[in-house]
Amino acid sequence: MLEVKNLTVVYNGVISVLHGVSLEAREGAITALLGGNGSGKTTLMRAISGILTIYEGEIQEGNIELAKIKLNHLKAVDITKKLHLTYLMEGRPVFEYLSIRENLIAAASCRWDSAVPKDMERVLAFFPPLKNRMQSKAGYLSGGEQQMLAMGMALMTNPRFLLLDEPSLGLAPIMVKEIFKVISRINRERKIDILLSEQNAMVALRISSYAYVMENGRVVMDGSSIELIENADIQEAYLGSKDAGKKDYKEAKRYKRRKRWLG
Ligand SMILES: Nc1ncnc2c1ncn2[C@@H]1O[C@H](COP(=O)(O)OP(=O)(O)OP(=O)(O)O)[C@@H](O)[C@H]1O
Ligand SMILES: [Mg+2]
Repeated sequence: MLEVKNLTVVYNGVISVLHGVSLEAREGAITALLGGNGSGKTTLMRAISGILTIYEGEIQEGNIELAKIKLNHLKAVDITKKLHLTYLMEGRPVFEYLSIRENLIAAASCRWDSAVPKDMERVLAFFPPLKNRMQSKAGYLSGGEQQMLAMGMALMTNPRFLLLDEPSLGLAPIMVKEIFKVISRINRERKIDILLSEQNAMVALRISSYAYVMENGRVVMDGSSIELIENADIQEAYLGSKDAGKKDYKEAKRYKRRKRWLG
């Protein structure tokens, strides 16, 4: 289980971005992290994966634990290599000038062992469109295929815990559906726990069991995903309920919240 307690993060020593964030991502589960632009989702994932310093960021207060091991001062490489937590950054990070095969091999460089070739077959089984194009340069793939490759690379690091940062960003709805099906399968079949950040709330809530909503560096709501799908504020903010256009006085407060979440 991943536990974040009362986490405060500052960039450049002054810009306070996370203000006492607490959450849990339970073993075996997909946990969703919802929130609009700039709400702090990526910053939280950078803190968990140990790469905040690259961005001049720093944990000022709080605690991050994975299976009761404190991560706060561990190096990113140890968090991935020894504790098997991998962070797949937003924006489909692939090496554009390398082929699919080379990208997958590069991702496995942190663990090179004799199981890598066999593992590549296992990983490719999740992504049939990649399998027949192993020599293609990653830069020529579609956005959806690049996201598949990026996820394949994350799997090649042999994770037990995955942080996925906005995997649906910029993808066509049909591709989003495909990607989320695979995320769900990876969780079930590979027994990998997942913390998933998303602005696309409906798809994230459908495949997760629990969700947190962030706003301005704070968790403002949490609950089981089934509960949140039914929640009126969530419906208005993210899902476009049938009354979303109605903005009478009674609705004003909710409308304001919706505006805040949408950024
Ligand atoms: N390296 C940095 N230095 C200073 N401020 C930063 C840095 N990175 C992010 N921020 C600020 O921190 C806040 C949270 O940003 P973050 O990227 O964590 O949000 P997010 O929820 O991931 O947003 P998005 O959905 O747009 O990816 C924003 O106000 C952003 O401008
Ligand atoms: Mg982000």
